Amino acid sequence: MSRFDSLISAAKAARLKAHAPFSNFKVGAALRTQSGKVFGGCNVENATYGLTVCAERVAIFKAISEGERQFDAIAVVTDTDALTPPCGACRQLIWEFCGDVPVVMSNLHGKVEELRMSQLFPKPFDSSNL
Ligand code: THU
Repeated sequence: MSRFDSLISAAKAARLKAHAPFSNFKVGAALRTQSGKVFGGCNVENATYGLTVCAERVAIFKAISEGERQFDAIAVVTDTDALTPPCGACRQLIWEFCGDVPVVMSNLHGKVEELRMSQLFPKPFDSSNL
């Protein structure tokens, strides 16, 4: 049991909705607000490939578009032995919207790894650079 079990379960449920006919790489994410609400997201691919949106960004955009601004953790689930960290584009957005939150990576077999954003994204460009 970890304090992230329910967040991981939400990411697993979101992963089942993935639209990944091109890569067949299904990803689920779940973003938790500081008030305890959870927003799931899955990757949504596109025939042009480049318009694909990752699961993490779908979860962030869902939460932001519902007016949420304070977040405390994000989980990412894939069906892989090597756990999946957020891509570079997602790291930028997680950093800007969530700050130094824990990123909880997990697979379908109970493997879990937790890293903070400051470990995954140690020298960000953000509004403090403007
Ligand atoms: N993908 C995500 O949704 N999140 C990640 O953290 C890594 C990559 C998606 C994008 C694409 O649909 C598929 O995984 C293969 O890159």
